[in-house]
Amino acid sequence: MKTILVCNQKGGVGKTLCCDLISDFLTADGISHNIVSLDAQCGALHDPKKEDGAVVTIVDTPGVLLDDTKKWMEAADMIIIPTLLGTRDIPPLERTIAIADDLKNRKPLLIILNRWNNYSISKSFLEWFEEKHPDLKTAVLPDCTAFNKAAAEGMSILKHSPHSKGALQFAHIYGFIKTELGLKEGWR
Ligand SMILES: Nc1ncnc2c1ncn2[C@@H]1O[C@H](COP(=O)(O)OP(=O)(O)O)[C@@H](O)[C@H]1O
Ligand SMILES: [Mg+2]
Repeated sequence: MKTILVCNQKGGVGKTLCCDLISDFLTADGISHNIVSLDAQCGALHDPKKEDGAVVTIVDTPGVLLDDTKKWMEAADMIIIPTLLGTRDIPPLERTIAIADDLKNRKPLLIILNRWNNYSISKSFLEWFEEKHPDLKTAVLPDCTAFNKAAAEGMSILKHSPHSKGALQFAHIYGFIKTELGLKEGWR
């Protein structure tokens, strides 16, 4: 069983969206998985689910830093930290990264620079990130209305809008997850 922890101290940064997307891609690959939400108000498209013989567990977390965050990070096989790109996103991201500091060389950690568009990125965020964390692996996820349309219809993005820029970009992120965790299609 491989556990993917999706966390950031801040709410509204795309944690639950990323969990839903990982689940959509795993489903398309026929990889059985569980979804666990530690956030009572998560608003996920997918209900918490438990499959027999699941090989992956996706863990969604609330937008607060709890004492348990470190414990969850230690228990995970991979840590994903989505963030928005404004100046006010720096302090919560910094605190979340700090908790992962001694783990980042022991397990894959990916920062998702979420809702990337020309208007949402603050120059100070990028300068801060490049200066303080040049070693961290990042991926960009664009702002994509298809994510919300698919969710409103209760559909996987891969069925609703497989060629949207969000789906295409998340395919790269999913490829990274699969490689890092050694997942294979059709695993049950
Ligand atoms: N890249 C994106 N494109 C479009 N909408 C997004 C994107 N990322 C997040 N959202 C939307 O922003 C809102 C907050 O995202 P959510 O995943 O619930 O955040 P969190 O779980 O971190 O609180 C949701 O309505 C979600 O669909
Ligand atoms: Mg959430």
